[in-house]
Amino acid sequence: MGVWKITGGNKLYGDLRVQGSKNAVLPIMAAAIVTGCETEIINCPQLSDVDAAMEILRHLGCKAEREKDIVNIDSRSMTCTDIPRDLMSEMRSSVIFLGAILARTHEAQLTYPGGCELGARPIDMHLDALKRLGASIDERGGKLECRDEGLLGARIVLPFPSVGATENAMLAACGAKGTTTIVNAAKEPEIVDLQEFLRKLGAEVSGAGTSTVTISDFTPHAHVGHRVMPDRIVSATMLCCAAAAGGAVTLHGVMPDDFETVTAALEDMGCLVERRSKTVKIVCDSPLRASKLITTRPYPGFPTDAQPLLMASCLKAAGTSEFTENIFENRFRHVAEMRRFGADIKINGRTAAVTGVRELHGAEVNATDLRGGAALVAAALGTEGETLLTDTGHILRGYEALDKTLTALGADVSYEPEEDESLASAM
Ligand code: EPZ
Repeated sequence: MGVWKITGGNKLYGDLRVQGSKNAVLPIMAAAIVTGCETEIINCPQLSDVDAAMEILRHLGCKAEREKDIVNIDSRSMTCTDIPRDLMSEMRSSVIFLGAILARTHEAQLTYPGGCELGARPIDMHLDALKRLGASIDERGGKLECRDEGLLGARIVLPFPSVGATENAMLAACGAKGTTTIVNAAKEPEIVDLQEFLRKLGAEVSGAGTSTVTISDFTPHAHVGHRVMPDRIVSATMLCCAAAAGGAVTLHGVMPDDFETVTAALEDMGCLVERRSKTVKIVCDSPLRASKLITTRPYPGFPTDAQPLLMASCLKAAGTSEFTENIFENRFRHVAEMRRFGADIKINGRTAAVTGVRELHGAEVNATDLRGGAALVAAALGTEGETLLTDTGHILRGYEALDKTLTALGADVSYEPEEDESLASAM
């Protein structure tokens, strides 16, 4: 994985179109196998996580091809019911395929997705939901053997509005006889996008975006076309980059309501934000003040994925900004790296207190995870001097050409391939 070189001090100016949503397209790609059909997914972001999902589809026997931002999936030829360890470890959110494989074939074998940089990432709620629908799940030696004698609609009450568990339950319910009601469902916009896709696929789904989702009948259609919603976390990321660097940036093709907790926080800090139906413009031309208390919560609360990003905007803001992380147990790993820039951040349990400093300096930093890595890029834009950022593979999982996007806005960002990468390209 190469090294990014970021020289801070340039303000950002210009316009950009935000990519399709990673967290919407992944469950939609899983949904494409619930029945044998041909699916055209439009506005599909070019990300390593999407590549991994395409690999899983091909392993299952489906066709999956990309032409620019369109991914075509033909799941009529699906033959396999297992996801091997190497593909599971490539992307832990592959567990989202479990409900869809069960709905289609009534058996599934996969390895435990395991934890990640953010924490243990258990899947107990996913498995309990599938058991409520009649699946029997054998967990042995890190493997999951799942099967059912015919899924039956059920009332599923989630102990926590888990995004993934809600999506897995929705997908499995498409293969169940009768009505399924998911209570305490996650309300994220990505769930609404999945509902829109499932409706096009022929499912009777309602309630997405509220805490109760109902799936009743399913009359499969053979062809589906769907345009993926814009990525609300990438939208938030670009706004936070502008806040950290200063300047004026306009996002196009976005859904402002999806990330209004982030724009509200940036306005509290002194940024000017103009919202239109599909654009958001941010102007940051004066020193920022500390943000009000940020507490991450399930949607529509402040999104955990934007916590590291807003923190990057607060490193030089006057005063102390407090962040409480309620969703993941280990989502402050970017803090130690931010301190290398000279940031003043104190952690006490699930709360981080960021006291603005007058100046930040470039440093050698390591991307700890997807959003933490993007937050280090944002912070580096606001430093004096040069930053070398390694382990950028994390960032490629969720951001389409972030370096090129920032360069087009005036940032001084360049990519230096690893030794062997440059040798290979020289041959
Ligand atoms: C989705 O992860 C997103 N990923 C995450 O985005 C996002 O941070 C998260 O939702 C919360 O919004 C995708 O959509 C691919 P959860 P998910 O189930 O579904 C616990 C990014 O940066 N939990 O809502 O895994 C879990 O440990 C990624 O794009 C259980 O205990 O999130 C966590 O503490 C990071 N048991 C909390 O619930 C379960 O069975 C929320 O997890 C499931 C979850």
